[in-house]
Order: sequence, then C-alpha cells, then structure tokens
Amino acid sequence: MRPPIWIAIIVSLLVVQTLRVDEGIADDSAGPAIHAVLAAHIGHARGWLDQNDLKSLAQSAGGLELLAEVLRSQSDDPAWQQATRAVIAMSKELRSAAAAGDPAGSRQALAELETAAANAAGLTPRGQPLPPPRSGPGIRPLMLLLDGVYADAKVANLTGSHARAKMNAQVLSELARVVSNSRSEEGWAEMSDDFREASLSAAGSTSSDPKAIRQLLRGISESCEACHNAR
Ligand code: HEC
Repeated sequence: MRPPIWIAIIVSLLVVQTLRVDEGIADDSAGPAIHAVLAAHIGHARGWLDQNDLKSLAQSAGGLELLAEVLRSQSDDPAWQQATRAVIAMSKELRSAAAAGDPAGSRQALAELETAAANAAGLTPRGQPLPPPRSGPGIRPLMLLLDGVYADAKVANLTGSHARAKMNAQVLSELARVVSNSRSEEGWAEMSDDFREASLSAAGSTSSDPKAIRQLLRGISESCEACHNAR
C-alpha cells in the first residue's frame, strides 16, 4: 500500500520547520517548535497504535491534546483558532477511541489528527497571543508529556541534533507556563518559573557543543526535581 499523501506532507513540514530552526531564522514565536514537537509526538502515537498498545496510545493522545492547546494559545487569529481547535478535537477523539479499546476508531482519529496538524502547520499566527492554557486533563498527563519532551531533547542531543534538542527545550518553556497555571499552592509559581527559566536557557543557547547542551538540559532536569522534592 502506498503511504497516504498526508504522511509526505507532515514529514516535509517537519523537515522545513527543523531546517528553519537549524538555520537560526526561526522567529521568536514558539509556533514552529510546537508544530515540530507535535508532529514528532503524533509519530510516537502512531508507534503505539502499530504495536496495538492502546493504553499508551490513550496516554499519548492526552499529551497531544495539551500540545495542541499550547499551539492554540499562540494566537487569537480566527483562522489559527479554527485550525488548532480541529487538532484539539481530533486528539480528544483519539484519546476516547484508544481508551475505549477501539483500534479501528483510533486509526481513523489518528489519520484525521495528522491531516488537522498538517493544515495547522501551514498557517502563520498573525494575531495576539492568548494566555497559556491550564492542563484540562489534570496534572498527570501534563507531567507525562514533560517527561516525553524532555526525553526527546536528551535523545536529540545525544544523536547530534542540537537544533532539535533546543526546539524541545523551547516547547518545555511553553509547557512551564501551563504548569504554572495548573495549580495555585504556595511556591508553585516560583518553581514553575525556575523550570521555565532553565528551559529558556537551553532553548536560547547559541552553543552547538553537545556537552554544553547536556549541561543546560541537566539544569532543566534539576528544576523538575526541585519541584518534585518540595512535595
Ligand atoms: C512546579 C512543580 C513541578 C515541576 C516544575 C515539574 N513537576 Fe513533575 N510532578 C509534579 C507533581 C505535583 C507531580 C505529581 C502528580 C500526581 O500524580 O498527582 C509530578 C509528577 C511527575 C511525574 C510522575 C507522573 C506519574 O504519575 O506517573 C513525572 C514523570 C514528572 N512529574 C516529570 C516531570 C518532568 C520531566 C519535569 C520537568 C521537565 C517536571 N515533572 C516538572 C510537579 C512538578
């Protein structure tokens, strides 16, 4: 069977986004990094589906929903809102189908999610950013997503792609705002800010030395642990 056209579209968009970051011409907005990380996580979801691991797929879809919410908050532009809402809706559909143990429904939802993500990736946000979202599905899906994005940053650095490592760090800095927004207990905002600062240091580093970047990623990990240990 020939792979559907949207696979080619997603792969090429991912490459274009990555090249933009590699060439250092990415604008300040986190949009391109979020798109690329979203596409990578859709790939992870497809992996779970191919292994028929619907439990992991449902979990992964929860992360996709959060990433899509962060993407949506990048701009109040109506076309952007409409395109990113479709990504959120399909992530939700994927999560319910996977949670219901429905492989055919999951396959259908994932295909539609891939199309929706490719559509959104074709847009440039032009309006004003919105406040960062809260973690709708709760703190645990958010933490599992952080874990996945951080792991991808580490793997990217180990395999020589400093641009991808920094891109994942940039997405962590966006997710730090969601962490901050998701609870109000004492010390939470400060620890979320420390996590955001550590992520921004890694994302904004001009170094391409894997050792230097590893050190910056370790700084992120320490900020995660600082919050975990405070509890
Ligand atoms: C501001 C606080 C805070 C920060 C920062 C933070 N976490 Fe967490 N994390 C928590 C809390 C609270 C829990 C417990 C969630 C629960 O189960 O109720 C948790 C739980 C987790 C879990 C366990 C999830 C499970 O139940 O299986 C993982 C994994 C995790 N965090 C990863 C990370 C990573 C990776 C980072 C940094 C990139 C990070 N966290 C940053 C507060 C934080």
